Amino acid sequence: MARDALRRRLEFYRDLGFEDLYVRGGGAAPAGAEAPPEPEPEDAAGELRVIRDDIGDCTRCRLHEGRTNIVFGSGNPNARLVFVGEGPGADEDQQGEPFVGRAGQLLTRMIDGTSERIGLAIRRPDVYICNVVKCRPPGNRNPRRDEMEICGQFLKRQVLAIAPKAVCVLGGTAAQALLRSSVGITRLRGKWQEWEGIRVMPTFHPSYLLRPGGQHAKRPAFEDLKAVLTYCYLD
Ligand code: URA
Repeated sequence: MARDALRRRLEFYRDLGFEDLYVRGGGAAPAGAEAPPEPEPEDAAGELRVIRDDIGDCTRCRLHEGRTNIVFGSGNPNARLVFVGEGPGADEDQQGEPFVGRAGQLLTRMIDGTSERIGLAIRRPDVYICNVVKCRPPGNRNPRRDEMEICGQFLKRQVLAIAPKAVCVLGGTAAQALLRSSVGITRLRGKWQEWEGIRVMPTFHPSYLLRPGGQHAKRPAFEDLKAVLTYCYLD
């Protein structure tokens, strides 16, 4: 686990253009070089803290211009199940927490309620919840491809640090970003996919379920959640 985390962090630095990295105690760094990376933490919570530190006060894309808070993610760092949404809305931006607005409250009820229906004691704090982009897109527009590419590197590290049994990806935009697919969510939902060796269940976004035309999608979303909770906690 620690070796994987170190490899991912080194890849991340390489992507940023740093070719030579120096290990503390492994020889003098050239004048003007950045401080060498800290030793990697062994546990997921520690890895998540490192990733959050790497994000810092991010200005890598235009979304930083309008944000109040970076919404990193919340929940159990050792979760067997990770939910991935699209990006923070107004409430999330204000509070710095994912899925706390109307759609978030529905997501919480869906997790808790579905779990209860299948005889599980899993509740929202037991899973981990995050988004493809960590800053609110202005006016709640969809995140753009370049914004998702830039922020997606952190999502990847975040999910691999947690190493869940499965990911439930919410809505077409997030599903397409994670799976690099152009298939719409209506066709994709309910069918297991794979990403980085982890099973992925795409389903409808809770805000879609709240729209007047989205009522019909509630039952399939419940079925998808049932499948993913069963796989993670009962199989
Ligand atoms: N919609 C999302 O995709 N993510 C949130 O955190 C809230 C609403």
